[in-house]
Amino acid sequence: MQGDVRGDMFYIKHNNDSFTVIDCNLADGREEEILKTITQEANGKAIKRFISTHPDRDHILGLEKLVKVLDLPTTNFYAVRNEIPAEKDNPSLDMYLSLMNADTSASIKAGLDRDFLNQDKLGKGIGSSGIKFYWPDLDNPEFIKALDTVKNGGKANNISPIILYYTEKAKILWMGDMEEGMQKEFYKHHKGEIGKVNILFAPHHGRESGQVPTDFLAELNPDIVVIGNAPAENLETSYKHYGNERTITQNSANDILFDCHDSQIDVYTGKDCDNLPKALKKNPSITGVCYRGSINI
Ligand SMILES: [Fe+2]
Repeated sequence: MQGDVRGDMFYIKHNNDSFTVIDCNLADGREEEILKTITQEANGKAIKRFISTHPDRDHILGLEKLVKVLDLPTTNFYAVRNEIPAEKDNPSLDMYLSLMNADTSASIKAGLDRDFLNQDKLGKGIGSSGIKFYWPDLDNPEFIKALDTVKNGGKANNISPIILYYTEKAKILWMGDMEEGMQKEFYKHHKGEIGKVNILFAPHHGRESGQVPTDFLAELNPDIVVIGNAPAENLETSYKHYGNERTITQNSANDILFDCHDSQIDVYTGKDCDNLPKALKKNPSITGVCYRGSINI
């Protein structure tokens, strides 16, 4: 989700008793609407979790309000542990720090296993939410350098994790704002581990600095690449890199909803857009003004 306000925010309404929010961007003008949507969609779910890709403003803005709405326990707060310095008059970062530094919060790392996240907890009837982390490797020297950069007040993009959401058939991938060099580092050590995905959220909102390296992109071979909100001039090169036949931009589509089924993913967008990925085919049995088509998986 996220329309013409720049930043990232996603939610996953799982097909069980879990609800996940990835990043938070309650920017001016949409705060109330987004919180209302989250409240409605998360209503009645036993497990509500928040996954933070990194503590940049456009990924944690309004976290203190979201946490209230979700009634989020620290055990369900996921972040890559880091030592970002606090800032004056930044309640969202204050909230991020207090949750991350709580003993019970979840520290993201490659291969993290947890009840309800990706493990069944027998007897509770909730089961796995299909979320897997492929990165970071906490002892990787490049990642350690990125942590140092954050600690010293530098940018946080390169501490972003790699997050996969999978159902029986669908695979959806996020990399936060991870830049190209760190993606190369991941790929050097984990080539072939992720395989094909259906939907890729282009890292760093689709900016050139976050372009997925060609060999890694060939492995992922996404049916759809979502390019987030960014100034159009920043997107030109990326649009070509990912191929406009499989790209959908949030500048034109606004909010996007992916409805994952056993054999297809149905795609809905907030605004009509003429340049849709080729893989989208209209299913005549689905109606609705926001429906743009489905991909077979
Ligand atoms: Fe960002």
